[in-house]
Amino acid sequence: MGVLLQVTDVTKIYANQPKPGLDGVSFEVNEGEFLGIMGASGSGKTTLLNVLSTIDTPTSGKITMGRTNIQKLNQTQAADFRKNNLGFIFQEYFLLDSLTVQENIAVPLTLLHRPAREITAKVKELAELFGIASQLQKYPSELSGGQRQRVAAARAIVKRPPLIFADEPTGALDSSSATELLAALSEVNQTIGTTILMVTHDPYAASYTDHILYFKDGHIISELYRSCSDRRVFYNEIMNEAARQDGNR
Ligand SMILES: Nc1ncnc2c1ncn2[C@@H]1O[C@H](COP(=O)(O)OP(=O)(O)OP(=O)(O)O)[C@@H](O)[C@H]1O
Ligand SMILES: [Mg+2]
Repeated sequence: MGVLLQVTDVTKIYANQPKPGLDGVSFEVNEGEFLGIMGASGSGKTTLLNVLSTIDTPTSGKITMGRTNIQKLNQTQAADFRKNNLGFIFQEYFLLDSLTVQENIAVPLTLLHRPAREITAKVKELAELFGIASQLQKYPSELSGGQRQRVAAARAIVKRPPLIFADEPTGALDSSSATELLAALSEVNQTIGTTILMVTHDPYAASYTDHILYFKDGHIISELYRSCSDRRVFYNEIMNEAARQDGNR
């Protein structure tokens, strides 16, 4: 497996802030990895996703995805890069209320002017994977929060971007909806091979990933690799790591 994303000594300084949002962060993400990002509020997680996804620019350091040095992209190139390579899932679902579920999932393909038949087939496939195939003709207001988030996830994945960014995707969900979303994301990661970077506060959500970076004050302070396929074992390891970090505070 090759390296998809290479982050080297990235710092982000915000104007009028005493401390950097990110402070000399370096790591790699392999193709096909499901990476978790954890850390207290204000530790730099969203800042990291913003600079990795070209939504914001780092003050210094280097970020490459494949062979693209993403800081070298001008605004138009960055917009194209996002459109072709990245999918996003947020805590708030950001669905378009006036479009049906079918149309919402199709948006990225519609923007790429793909043929209608291809769009219908791809939407159907992902709707099945996310367990929302019977909801396609409904509007977002007719769905539960968990269903809405699965629509948002299907929309993020429908054009098959190599990389998905998810910022607290389970933050607004109850535990059974969170489980449905996480299981579907795992399946996408394993069957389609989509690389996923997921920010989460929740040890349970993190237990679906295979590698976790812990942030504090804009730095990576530790990391944890999944040691075996049993998710519950990893969950216990994550809880032990949380206890260890609390002990070091
Ligand atoms: N647009 C901004 N302008 C100024 N400072 C910012 C901006 N965005 C973030 N910061 C600061 O940078 C630091 C990191 O913020 P960030 O939003 O990345 O944290 P986070 O880990 O995502 O937190 P949370 O878990 O609450 O979402 C914080 O001190 C925050 O106040
Ligand atoms: Mg955040």
